[in-house]
Amino acid sequence: MSAENGWTAAVITVSDKGAAGEREDTSGPLVATMLEEAGYRVVYVDIVPDERDLIEAELRSCADRQDIALVLTTGGTGFAPRDVTPEATAAVCERLAPGIPEAMRAASMQVTDRAMLSRMAAGIRGKTLIVNLPGSPKAAKENLEAVLPALSHGLEMLRGPARDHS
Ligand code: MTE
Repeated sequence: MSAENGWTAAVITVSDKGAAGEREDTSGPLVATMLEEAGYRVVYVDIVPDERDLIEAELRSCADRQDIALVLTTGGTGFAPRDVTPEATAAVCERLAPGIPEAMRAASMQVTDRAMLSRMAAGIRGKTLIVNLPGSPKAAKENLEAVLPALSHGLEMLRGPARDHS
């Protein structure tokens, strides 16, 4: 267990099948473990179907009610008709952070040219940073690894030094 960096985090898996119990969610737990190993305290995890209003409600709750510093979503960033996570994210964010998905796609293009097919987004609501990841465990891990080190500086700009937060 690495030293806590003082930031809280949430992981929201967006998956019709996962929410219906028809497929085990392996991406959410993998992302949560990566966050804990990086010193984040994961205080909330959930699975929601690919329904824009439910995704938005989760994101608003994490930011407004729970005041969580970093919210990661996994899934629903592709071209499939029910993939709406980026739209739900943009709808709840006051300010977008395009550099984060740009960096993830750039790093992922070194792995697969299908990286261009992820429409993932990132943005800020209040003092919460929301970042989309693709749905597969491999893709979620590869994309998060590309940006995780820089996110804590973004959170310091957003919230002040980590140590000042419970
Ligand atoms: N990024 C990385 N690093 N590795 C991957 O395997 N998969 C791509 C892309 N980004 C992938 C990746 C594929 S095949 C798709 S369809 C998009 O992520 C969107 O995935 P999602 O619909 O699960 O969000």
